[in-house]
Amino acid sequence: MNLTLKVWRQKNANSKGELKTYHVKDVSPDMSFLEMFDVLNEELLLKGEDPIAFDHDCREGICGMCSMYINGHPHGPEQTTTCQLHMRSFKDGDTIVVEPWRAKAFPVVKDLVVDRSAFDRIIQAGGYISVNTGNAPDANEIPISKEVADAAFNAATCIGCGACVAACKNASAMLFVSAKVAQLSMLPQGQIERKKRVEQMVAKMDEEGFGACTNTGACAAECPKEISLANIAILNREYLTAKATSEYV
Ligand code: SF4
Ligand code: FES
Repeated sequence: MNLTLKVWRQKNANSKGELKTYHVKDVSPDMSFLEMFDVLNEELLLKGEDPIAFDHDCREGICGMCSMYINGHPHGPEQTTTCQLHMRSFKDGDTIVVEPWRAKAFPVVKDLVVDRSAFDRIIQAGGYISVNTGNAPDANEIPISKEVADAAFNAATCIGCGACVAACKNASAMLFVSAKVAQLSMLPQGQIERKKRVEQMVAKMDEEGFGACTNTGACAAECPKEISLANIAILNREYLTAKATSEYV
């Protein structure tokens, strides 16, 4: 396959970026999108040019690092991560536009790399449990119904990639935050900090500059891990309950 790429190039957070055109030849349909970038970067290095900066780590759809906007969709045309997107999803002769996540809370660091540490700070504000749950056999001694275990597990599959924020016209982080809050609120170990958690995580989300949720649903439509909008309903319920019964009002 021969492709034309229009890639966002930006030296640093303060410089002005622009789309630059590259032609890549003999791309195998079995390559992942990141492998295609690796080949292009080798060519750029051989020519003495600055390679395209992009984030990646596991390349197995687990870490959530490979964030980029491809042809107007976070992670591209398939509902998967960029590292799991294959070039067979495109056609010979296609033009592909690649941009970084666009959100105030995710400032561009360089090219396609954005600073997503706002997500880490939201987790630090409450997305944890402080009780010692012991080893795996101890955890298995606590009876949890199959329905609750499945719902908690599904919420836990959020990899923190930020595609939900990128897809949202308001750059809202509600799907990400709701997945983390819902997962812990359902499990016995998460009860200790249950009220404090949701209050602090929502406060941090707002402080970091993410927008509000207006129920558009673009987040769930683009999420590579199929995190359900039902988690946002759980987040709203958890938040209202916490505020209505807060000892600190
Ligand atoms: S909710 Fe989905 S899109 Fe958002 S961070 Fe989690 S896995 Fe990524
Ligand atoms: S590189 Fe880890 S999910 Fe894509």
